[in-house]
Amino acid sequence: MTEVPEHLLKRSKDRRSAGDGGSAETAPAASAGEDTGTQVAKAGATAAAPIAASTPAVADEKPVAPYVAAALRRKKIPLWAMPVIVFLPLWGVIYMAGLSPAASGEPSQLATGQSIYTAQCAGCHGAAGGGGVGRQMNEGNLVATFPDIIGQLEFVWLGSNGIGPTGTPYGDPAREGGQHKTLSYNGNPMPAFNKSLTQAQLLAVVRYEWEVLSGGKLEPAQVDAEGNMQYADGKPMLNDAGELITPEGKPLFDSAGKLTIQPNWTMPTGSM
Ligand code: HEC
Repeated sequence: MTEVPEHLLKRSKDRRSAGDGGSAETAPAASAGEDTGTQVAKAGATAAAPIAASTPAVADEKPVAPYVAAALRRKKIPLWAMPVIVFLPLWGVIYMAGLSPAASGEPSQLATGQSIYTAQCAGCHGAAGGGGVGRQMNEGNLVATFPDIIGQLEFVWLGSNGIGPTGTPYGDPAREGGQHKTLSYNGNPMPAFNKSLTQAQLLAVVRYEWEVLSGGKLEPAQVDAEGNMQYADGKPMLNDAGELITPEGKPLFDSAGKLTIQPNWTMPTGSM
């Protein structure tokens, strides 16, 4: 229990006898312990100003101990900030839970993909994949080009010029509206990313575009316990070295970065 300073007790007694209604609170508040400073500040609001200014001009006030003066001067938290302060930790927990698996503490594959997209793709393709210098991805456009995500992995890895000369068709030959061809959008090439991304990062950003921006649906069997994408038969898409592999465990890309297995363009994507 904090000792109530003698002069405060005296002051409250003086006030009570002087018939000042407000100060009736002072004594019990002061004896409540730690909060003494704040409570006194509340109850003694009228007294606070002259005390804080520490003018001995007020005849019946004794000089106040520096720590009491500091407590009286200190700003109280404004009422409107209370809900913010109360819910901030809760928001933090929800935010973190959405981005990272609790177990490892590392960002999830989709969260990694999102940050790569924002940093390296959004400038051309738009923050939500709406298109610009680069092709539109949202509203199912990307999933229509690449019903099988491995085709998109190859395209982003090599870029337009790595896929073939101008006019080389890529993606689903039966694409609604016609198969896409390199340099056919606005004449600009899609840059290659095989120098600036690891294969694990490539999978993360490609999956983010395909699933989150374009609305492709993965089968539950295509997501492992850590939330990483895997083949529908439960085989991993990355080996322990972080390289893309086929369901048979062989490298997904040859030394030139081309696919070593054929994409399945009739794969159900659930979104269209
Ligand atoms: C400098 C601008 C630019 C940047 C940065 C860029 N792209 Fe592109 N992207 C393009 C252009 C232009 C095309 C169209 C290419 C063509 O017509 O050959 C394209 C096409 C694509 C396509 C094919 C879409 C379709 O339906 O045909 C994919 C997939 C793609 N980009 C993914 C990405 C990813 C992933 C990133 C970031 C890692 C990225 N892009 C960064 C300009 C860009």
